[in-house]
Amino acid sequence: MLCSNIDRPWVAIMLSTSLIFIWVFGFRVHDAILSTPLFEDFENFKNFFSEISEYQHHPSEAMFVKQAMAVEFPMPIDYRPIQAVCARSNFRPGLLFSCEGQHGGVGMVRNQILRCIRYAIAGGGAIVIPNMQLRSVEDISDIETAVEVPLNNMLDHETFIKHLTGGCPGMKIYEHAEDFPNYDKKLNTLSMIGSQFEPDHPKEGLTHPREWRAEFNRWLSRQHVKILPNTPVHIKMEQSFLEYPVQDDGVAFVHEYGKILSFRHDTRALAAKVLFALDQKFALNIDPRKAINANAYYGAHLRLEKDALDAWPPAEWRFSRMDQQFEQQFRNIERSNLSVVYVASGNQTVVDLFAVDLARQFAASPGLRQRNISVITKHGLLRGADREALDSLPFDQRGLVDFLLMFKASKFMGVASSSFPWTVALRRHELSRYKEFANEGSDLLRDELSVIMGSQADYPELDPFLYGLWP
Ligand SMILES: *[C@@H]1O[C@H](CO)[C@@H](O)[C@H](O)[C@H]1NC(C)=O
Ligand SMILES: *[C@@H]1O[C@H](CO)[C@@H](O)[C@H](O)[C@H]1NC(C)=O
Ligand SMILES: *[C@@H]1O[C@H](CO)[C@@H](O)[C@H](O)[C@H]1NC(C)=O
Repeated sequence: MLCSNIDRPWVAIMLSTSLIFIWVFGFRVHDAILSTPLFEDFENFKNFFSEISEYQHHPSEAMFVKQAMAVEFPMPIDYRPIQAVCARSNFRPGLLFSCEGQHGGVGMVRNQILRCIRYAIAGGGAIVIPNMQLRSVEDISDIETAVEVPLNNMLDHETFIKHLTGGCPGMKIYEHAEDFPNYDKKLNTLSMIGSQFEPDHPKEGLTHPREWRAEFNRWLSRQHVKILPNTPVHIKMEQSFLEYPVQDDGVAFVHEYGKILSFRHDTRALAAKVLFALDQKFALNIDPRKAINANAYYGAHLRLEKDALDAWPPAEWRFSRMDQQFEQQFRNIERSNLSVVYVASGNQTVVDLFAVDLARQFAASPGLRQRNISVITKHGLLRGADREALDSLPFDQRGLVDFLLMFKASKFMGVASSSFPWTVALRRHELSRYKEFANEGSDLLRDELSVIMGSQADYPELDPFLYGLWP
């Protein structure tokens, strides 16, 4: 198979020499050879080398990190479903959308941006690269400070342009509104929210998303606003909440659309290093190229930080109570057959209390006493410069590292009140054997990979993440 692609003998000679090198000197040489310019064009060779790497039990950290970072979870973006939706829209010159007031943790910010761009697609306009409001450093519950930061605060700028352009070639993207053609001659700047044509929509979201563009056009006409290239219109999309019925565009679109947003590069690198350290410390035999490795580690998302307790007070919200959240995680870990528990949490005190509680529960359980449980976090796994880099990140960016580790966990569990665990569980669900999200009467979402704990009755109210979230 390999030689069939080789038509020049010197290539074959070089290849065999390289193979000998690899067998003699191992992986660092392999890395070095792959990065020499001579080999860069030989895609077949690279493939062959990575097949060899499958039988290598000790890939270098550099190779592991590179492969882990290259995983686009759960699989590489397929532009076609996005292209199909964008093809329904007629993009018109003279119309510019910008996304206003993005704020909160990564789950909400992602959704706010994706929703805004979905309306810009429907309206057929260009888009300004969205920014977001900074969370307060002094008080993490204050998510709407006046400080605006660029997209790159959480999300990768280049990937956004590349993937949105790939999916929606008709949509023009601008760094700043002022870069839009004839922006200085703009006659109208209008603010609106996505749900304004259906203010009384049900919890499942807009009933007529496909009529949004016609409503939008009528709304402009009523204000005598014309979209003309020489006198452009700037639409500022303000915040409404989870009202876009994502399934309306079909399952394939839902699977791909969220991938236009990728986490910032440094957090993906740190997450890959955490995964490597986890693999080394517990000899988990993780294949970095896989989205999810079975039998590797359990991902527990403990949503018990101050901002969560402020938003969902423990007096009314059962799973804002530490003992209740711990209990659910313990039951699920018990079922899971895993002994390494990676905890995602923005509060180390909570993690420490959880470790103690888990040890106590396991010791008290005759069938589990011999299972050697380890509770670990990103902070406990990174050393030196990587640890310093992690510690220097603000709250939300540290959360991105955890988010990526939750994606890849063999099993995952989180609460239903927060968009973070829903995004994780719904994206993982794409790899599930099951189409349904849960069995009747069981947890809100339960498949063989993830659980969103509790039932509807366990929460005073639930946001419609299942309808309005692009995972
Ligand atoms: C428990 O696991 C840790 C970490 O893998 C290991 O160092 C320790 O030796 C194990 N203890 C037992 C009793 O297996
Ligand atoms: C972390 O959680 C503990 C336990 O709930 C709480 O006492 C502490 O104030 C929290 N720390 C921060 C920084 O929010
Ligand atoms: C349980 O875990 C062990 C190793 O941790 C693995 O070898 C075994 O296949 C797992 N069993 C099941 C049922 O997943």
